Amino acid sequence: MIVLKTGRELKIMKEACRISAGALQTAGKAVEPGVTTAELDRLAEEYIRSQGGEPNFKNYEGYPATACISINNEVIHGIPSAKRKLRAGDIVSIDLGAKFDGYHGDNAATFACGDISEEAKRLMDTTRESLYEGIKAACAGGRVGDIGHAVQAYVEARGYTVVRQFVGHGVGTHLHEAPEVPNFGTPGRGVRLMPGMTIAIEPMVNAGAAGVEVQPDGWTVLTKDGSLSAHFEHTVAITADGPKIMTLI
Ligand code: MF3
Ligand code: CO
Repeated sequence: MIVLKTGRELKIMKEACRISAGALQTAGKAVEPGVTTAELDRLAEEYIRSQGGEPNFKNYEGYPATACISINNEVIHGIPSAKRKLRAGDIVSIDLGAKFDGYHGDNAATFACGDISEEAKRLMDTTRESLYEGIKAACAGGRVGDIGHAVQAYVEARGYTVVRQFVGHGVGTHLHEAPEVPNFGTPGRGVRLMPGMTIAIEPMVNAGAAGVEVQPDGWTVLTKDGSLSAHFEHTVAITADGPKIMTLI
């Protein structure tokens, strides 16, 4: 069931999203060689709690941390660890969210650790830009397929691939709600977009082939071919005046 949010609900959700964005910025700023992924996770959790929110990934289907931190060929759902130190040249995807007063925010971004390769920069830029292409397509009266198509066309025109096994989603009183929001699709197909819908658009883009596989830890998703992957996500409200990005500070 797709739940449309009232203006009052969007106001509360905006606060959950502001906290989510602040936590992502806080963790992202701390990305540098030698820092552990557990330390980034701690900074994010402290920020969320300092703002009166709760980390909404923690305990979600048994997930053990505040953030998912995925490095280089790790696509999503990397588990923070005190044993995992960042190195210069890594690209570091941080995905996290906060719950506030019953509503969820969800966002992600990929950060550079020290100097990174031109190829890694181009992958990160393309992924971030593809998210904004998807957001531009998230207009009332359009369809979910318009979003996926916009993301996919942008990514594939630059020689990269979109991950298909994992998708964006509705977000509200639950972290994951209907509808699914794939990063691929056909214009004019899929669920109709309506004012009051709130969705997380989250392209996961691989430098090589689209295939991914889950590690034996049951969480970490890797590219099958070992290629680099980047991930950007915003929570977006669809309004009569167009898409509004909620996860801004
Ligand atoms: N990051 C995922 C999303 O954006 C949700 C993470 S599931 C968790 O939809 F279990 F890792 F928290
Ligand atoms: Co999400």
